Amino acid sequence: MDVFSGPRYAAAKTEEVTVPNSTEATHSVNDPAIEVESLYKIFGRRASRAVEPLSTGIHRDEISDLNVTAAVIDASFQVHPGEIFVVMGLSGSGKSTLIRMLNGLLDPTSGSVKVDGTELAGLAPSSLRTLRQQKISMVFQHFALLPHRTVIDNVAFGLEVAGVSAAERKAKAAHATELVGLGGWEDKLPSQLSGGMRQRVGLARALAAETPIMLMDEAFSALDPLIRREVQDQLIELQKDLGKTIVFITHDLNEAMRLGDRIAVMRDGRIVQIGTSEEILTQPANDYVAEFIADVDRTRVLTAASVMDPPPQGKTVGADGVSVTEDTPVADLFAPSSESNLPLQVTNNDGKVVGVIPRLSLLSALGSIGENEHSTETGSDAPAGSDEEVEA
Ligand SMILES: Nc1ncnc2c1ncn2[C@@H]1O[C@H](COP(=O)(O)OP(=O)(O)OP(=O)(O)O)[C@@H](O)[C@H]1O
Ligand SMILES: [Mg+2]
Repeated sequence: MDVFSGPRYAAAKTEEVTVPNSTEATHSVNDPAIEVESLYKIFGRRASRAVEPLSTGIHRDEISDLNVTAAVIDASFQVHPGEIFVVMGLSGSGKSTLIRMLNGLLDPTSGSVKVDGTELAGLAPSSLRTLRQQKISMVFQHFALLPHRTVIDNVAFGLEVAGVSAAERKAKAAHATELVGLGGWEDKLPSQLSGGMRQRVGLARALAAETPIMLMDEAFSALDPLIRREVQDQLIELQKDLGKTIVFITHDLNEAMRLGDRIAVMRDGRIVQIGTSEEILTQPANDYVAEFIADVDRTRVLTAASVMDPPPQGKTVGADGVSVTEDTPVADLFAPSSESNLPLQVTNNDGKVVGVIPRLSLLSALGSIGENEHSTETGSDAPAGSDEEVEA
């Protein structure tokens, strides 16, 4: 059997997880994959005392007398099956703490995390381990590769820990290695690989686990920009077939906008906005978000659909114009636009023409959105995550 065939998510959903207190029997495929409600993580001896004052909305600095660190404050959101949900924020804003509560590596100070309808708090350690093995894999910034193991054995490592038979893990690891484009490199050692390739091994390891949910904490942040772009593209490509539920953490706004179906912006422990790239760009929730997005390359985020004119009434749109799809980034419209004197035709998924973009409209759209067209890797100079991770 092709271990990655079919809509993985739907397939994985039907598998039974034997966890006590599970409400999963009533959890349907369309329900949220992850549900977070009023979640707090506060570090320090008097952690729980800080919840109440923080719940009034005050800044964490205002409770400095309690001597605690409020890492995550009152977070609520849902991640839908098959979605890439990006959590973005500056260093120290609470991203890693948040993601560690999603797989139970950290216990919340207050609030709730449900994975496929199962509340993590109160699960016995063995049930939590089972749930992780079956549902959640994690990719870290520092790939956590074992230096003396070959690529394929690194990819198979998680399966080995989970007690999967040698034959099965070999098949799954080989397939995952192939998926991330490392076919032919199976027998190399990590030291023989480039940074980008090592990150692919980390990704393959997570894929080999065949879990419906992947948590990625700054997974691409250690890579230089070109390679980083390449693995981002690869993830987008893979995701088209795999349809995983992905929570992706980054401090890079452009990365967030490229990958995220929706983005949660964190500041000082709180989520200050959740929305699509376009929503965040066009309706920033406050001055902080507005300032954050000031440098983003809008031509990469805004699409043909957002700059097109309605198709001309009464005129059939000829087959001689150049067509682009609705979701083509504005940045990718210039080349096709220059190929023909006719307006670009914008088509929907069914191939129907839903709009046109005359060259002049494209240029004027660029005028209104393109004040920042030179910017690239926003925030990539922020300190890299300090975590030295060990696979759980
Ligand atoms: N185990 C811990 N004990 C005490 N404080 C902690 C602990 N882990 C994190 N913190 C603090 O919680 C806050 C949020 O940290 P977190 O690592 O979640 O931020 P982050 O957004 O992931 O940052 P970065 O981008 O640097 O990785 C920080 O002030 C950090 O110092
Ligand atoms: Mg972090």
